Amino acid sequence: MYRVYVTRRIPEEGLKMLQRLCQVEVWEGDVPPPREVLMEKVEEVDGLVSLLSDRIDGQVLSRARNLKVVANYAVGYDNIDLLEAEKRGVVVTNTPGILTETTADLTWALLLAAGRRIVEADTFTRKGQWKSWGPRLLLGQDIHGSNLGIVGLGRIGAAVARRAQGFAMNVLYYNRTSRPDYEEELGVQRVELEELLQVSDFVSIHVPLTEDTHHLLGKKELDLMKPSAVLVNTARGEIVDEEALIQSLQEKKLFAAGLDVFAREPIDEDHPLLQMEQVVVLPHIGSASFRTRARMAQVACENLLAVLEGKNPPNPVSR
Ligand code: NAP
Ligand code: GLV
Ligand code: GLV
Repeated sequence: MYRVYVTRRIPEEGLKMLQRLCQVEVWEGDVPPPREVLMEKVEEVDGLVSLLSDRIDGQVLSRARNLKVVANYAVGYDNIDLLEAEKRGVVVTNTPGILTETTADLTWALLLAAGRRIVEADTFTRKGQWKSWGPRLLLGQDIHGSNLGIVGLGRIGAAVARRAQGFAMNVLYYNRTSRPDYEEELGVQRVELEELLQVSDFVSIHVPLTEDTHHLLGKKELDLMKPSAVLVNTARGEIVDEEALIQSLQEKKLFAAGLDVFAREPIDEDHPLLQMEQVVVLPHIGSASFRTRARMAQVACENLLAVLEGKNPPNPVSR
């Protein structure tokens, strides 16, 4: 019987699949297993189901004896050192596609909330600060008819762009490779990053975190944005230079930001971003719907089982 370690209790749909064929151990904590535990388990098992909050690096992988597969319970896999996995013949898989629409929905929730100051207005109302209807009360930015810039027009970026049609937005995108398919389907237009930042009223980030995209939006890039613009990030925190973003927001060089991801997660309680009412913050819940998380569990476990049974997994990732 194969031995499998799962670094957090994932939905039963996935665990049941594993339990039919494997001896499964689940970390029951509500924070990730400590590194010593992870390394000890990696030494013992044939398969690992990991979360994006588990750092699977060379040190962890060096302990593997029988490990054949790391099935990440996420589409992003920047938490895993692919080179070190490859060196040891460990297959890495992810859960692409099935979480696209759920994450695009959440991206729109942040875009709307940041643009129209929804969270700030909710707090204002609850606190009893609402004295009368006001001509200048809590004014925000129009979403309809404005320019949306998508950084990274892949699966999620395209799903965000598709929703923009309902708001009659003009959509620009920046991608390494051009996407004539999406240009035709969605009427989106490819531009350089600089131009996208200069003309967009809303900028939404959807590239993966890689060496190339780390701090893709630094001070220089943020300075190109309009003071009325809103930045939305549901990709990875480190794609934006967080210090530079804080400065832009403090100096009112940006109107607002909607963030589901941060350079360090969880974010510190006294983090400067939490002091700003023009910032909407979420605890990395892009794919967090009941249905999608259940599907992710199934897909992660399908991938893991395929590798253990000597088959090609549906979603391998490579460098
Ligand atoms: P995807 O389909 O692979 O899309 C990524 C896009 O980024 C592709 O169009 C890719 O195009 C482009 N890209 C990659 N590197 C680039 C670079 N250096 N410069 C410009 N464009 C680049 O991935 P996805 O499924 O949409 O997911 C995107 C990311 O969202 C994930 O990696 C993950 O980090 C994040 N995510 C977050 C949540 C959440 O809970 N907040 C949920 C799901 C996903 P080319 O390679 O052709 O250039
Ligand atoms: C979530 O952030 C994912 O990459 O699936
Ligand atoms: C606002 O409620 C309006 O009627 O304009």
